[in-house]
Amino acid sequence: MSILVTGGAGYIGSHTCVELQQAGYDVVVLDNLSNASEKSLERVKALTGKEVTFYRGDILDRDILNEIMEKEKIDCCIHFAGLKAVGESVVKPWEYYNNNIAGTLTLVDVMRQHGCKNIIFSSSATVYGDPAQIPITEECPKGQCTNPYGWTKSMLEQILMDMQKADPEWNVILLRYFNPIGAHQSGTMGENPNGIPNNLMPYITQVAVGKLKELGVFGNDYDTPDGTGVRDYIHVVDLAKGHVKALKKIEENAGLSIYNLGTGHGYSVLDIVKNFEEATGVKIPYSIKPRRAGDIATCYCDPSKAERELGWKAEFGIREMCADSWRWQKNNPNGYED
Ligand code: NAD
Ligand code: UFG
Repeated sequence: MSILVTGGAGYIGSHTCVELQQAGYDVVVLDNLSNASEKSLERVKALTGKEVTFYRGDILDRDILNEIMEKEKIDCCIHFAGLKAVGESVVKPWEYYNNNIAGTLTLVDVMRQHGCKNIIFSSSATVYGDPAQIPITEECPKGQCTNPYGWTKSMLEQILMDMQKADPEWNVILLRYFNPIGAHQSGTMGENPNGIPNNLMPYITQVAVGKLKELGVFGNDYDTPDGTGVRDYIHVVDLAKGHVKALKKIEENAGLSIYNLGTGHGYSVLDIVKNFEEATGVKIPYSIKPRRAGDIATCYCDPSKAERELGWKAEFGIREMCADSWRWQKNNPNGYED
């Protein structure tokens, strides 16, 4: 089977390419490299021994999408391509709505014109807003997003659900990721953020490697055991494997399905600092800062639906997530630019 992986050169996409190839799928990547390096795909090949067919281009570009659909005989699309920086989305809402929403509308339109109606979409825990219940099940109502990025995910879920309802030939799987961290165990692939990282783990690893001075902990007065924010961190390789399981479900013509992909465990910011220090032996200096706008206290999921219906369960624990993030950062202090 031939799988189109949009955004396949990025963090989650590149790890998913490895798992797909190892499971025997042919992988075609479309990525405009706006937030990635083509070198990630060389690392995929080095790990799997298989070539990734790469198209440098944009999901907004019908011509390249038509070319791919004609040449590559795509059976299913795993759609990662999108802009994802929460803060930037507040400053550049048009760019986010255009890239993520118009981009996805273009992609699915070209797909259906070529008779390919199978899509796995990268959604996010952010669609639950400030969650109505913890742990979060898929039945938990969607909430108010606090930024345009979050709204693009929420709106795209609705668009794909409505398309599937109108045309049941579509198979749509919405995967709501919790907090992906970690890196491939080889230490050759990992997260490669531009500029100063917004997310916790890349910030910690850059402190550990000496690029940043200390971690700012955004608030210690939340209603959580130690006052710092609690999240459901999931190893990116577990997340990647979830996509392979989702593909099996698509092959059963399952219609519409929604799954949380997380571990079901919540860790606070200070838990992560402690686990990172214990897993790596590197001390992380930190200081308490004010809360970050838009943050919620606690977010972790009930991942049992994915286990029941996909046979998927996260295998890696927090120590492995920390050790693997560190191995990647230590071996590649400048990401793929070395
Ligand atoms: P990433 O930025 O590393 O990967 C996204 C990729 O898409 C990049 O390689 C980028 O160059 C590409 N891209 C962006 N716009 C494009 C366009 N118009 N045409 C072609 N390529 C384009 O991000 P990631 O962390 O790997 O996230 C992948 C997906 O998962 C995104 O949709 C993201 O919103 C979603 N997600 C990520 C997280 C997270 O914390 N990392 C959490 C929930 C959901
Ligand atoms: N945090 C700090 N200091 C930092 C960075 C983060 O204390 O320098 C804290 C945050 O306040 C939060 C926790 O660490 O309590 C995790 O923050 P991240 O920025 O790593 O992750 P978020 O949970 O805020 O959001 C991430 C993605 C979203 C996605 C969400 C759920 O950025 O796009 O996970 O998947 F929607």
